[in-house]
Formats: sequence, structure tokens, C-alpha cells
Amino acid sequence: MRKAIIAGNWKMNKTPAEAKELVTALAPLVKDAECDVVVCTPAVDFAAVSEAIKGTNIKLGAENVHWKESGAFTGELSADMLKACGVEYVIIGHSERRQYFGETDATVNQRVHAAIKAGLIPIICVGEKKEEREAGYTNPLVSYQTLIALTGLTAEQVAGVVIAYEPVWAIGTGLTATDEQANETIGVIRAAIRSAYGDAADKVRIQYGGSMNPKNAKGLMAQPEIDGGLIGGASLKAEDFSKVVKYNA
Ligand code: PGA
Repeated sequence: MRKAIIAGNWKMNKTPAEAKELVTALAPLVKDAECDVVVCTPAVDFAAVSEAIKGTNIKLGAENVHWKESGAFTGELSADMLKACGVEYVIIGHSERRQYFGETDATVNQRVHAAIKAGLIPIICVGEKKEEREAGYTNPLVSYQTLIALTGLTAEQVAGVVIAYEPVWAIGTGLTATDEQANETIGVIRAAIRSAYGDAADKVRIQYGGSMNPKNAKGLMAQPEIDGGLIGGASLKAEDFSKVVKYNA
């Protein structure tokens, strides 16, 4: 059995004071959650959030990581820096990074290696655009994105990563993949992992992301292939996010 993991992706939202307020309100609402609970926050919020989540079951995540350990990379953060701030998870290859900041499957792979080397758990995002789904490319595309992201890892390392299947057309749009669509595509991703890494595929946790919210979380999470969610908009309010975390309540 894979333990479910619900992660918030705050994107470019929340000052440190707002971050503290949010996690302080969230902590009592999710304290008896059965799944892993993660908030991926802007780096400026790490100090406030790591302090506020002490003694709670909430874990801290980052939204990106550079692949080098240090050096002349203005504006970037290394995996060791994240780790030193109390970060345990890191989102890699989010579609907004790919779309607006030119990230590629190859640099996603480098970032995944850097994260794992530093002891961080990567949350690797894959997903098709609307026109790609309509053209019938979803399955080969997500398989390719996944396998490139994992290239060079051992099966044991693969077993420990988290994948987020996020159809680009569902992110921030209010359009959600149907439960069946999400389940089917996540099954395709798992099959691709199995083809290269065997039984590690049974251990990898694969989330759905894209307009997941308190209303649709239960149905999505009831699907056998779906092991969690990566939540944008609905992670910005403690009450909404807690309802997604407690999707069975
Ligand atoms: P959304 O974002 O829940 O606002 O659609 C999800 C994501 O981008 O991870």
C-alpha cells in the first residue's frame, strides 16, 4: 500500500507573515491526517514556515531547485541550501517552470539528481497541454517526460520519488480531469516506470494535480492509481486545504 501524499503548491503567493498565519491555522485542522501533508512555499517563507510547523505533521517543500551545488547562478538555490532551511520535498519541472522559464526534460532530470543527492524528495511534474491531449499524444508524452526525468536513477531511488501528473489544461483553470481520465493517465505513467524499473513502479507515489479542491478530492483519491494531489489555488486557504487533506471526511 502506498501512503497518500497531499502537497500544496503556493506558487508566488504569501509573505512570511501570511505564510505563518496559514500554517498556524492549518496545523490543528490536519493533525490527525492519514496522508503525508506538505506545503511547498516560496523560499522567502521557509524560515517562518519551518518554525511554525515544528512539532506538527506538516512538512516543508520548495518549488524548484538548481542542479549545481554552488556557483555563479544568480537567483538560484541549491539542494543543500534548501535542506539547510528544513525543506524535505521539492517540486521539479512544474509546467509553469517549463512554460515561462524554459525548463526542459533534460534539466528536470539534472534537478532530480541534485535533489536526491541532498536527501530531498522530488515531486516531479509531468503532463500534457490541451492540444497534445486532443491530438492523442498524452500517453507517449507523459511516459517520455517521466522516463527522461528519472534517467540515471536506481530502481530504489525511483521508488522514493513522487510524480505529479498535472494536465496543463487543468491547472488554475477550474477544469479538472475526470476521475477516470486522471486514473488512466496515471496508470500509463506507472506502466512506463514499470517497463524501466520493474517493481519500483508499485512504490512510486503518483499524484494528480490541476484544480483539485475540497469538492473533487474524494472522487479523485478513490481511484486506485491516484496516490495524492498537488494543490495550487485550494492550498492558499487553511480550511480548503485541510478539506483536501481530509478527503475522506
Ligand atoms: P491548481 O494548481 O490546483 O491551482 O490548478 C495545481 C498546480 O499547479 O500544481
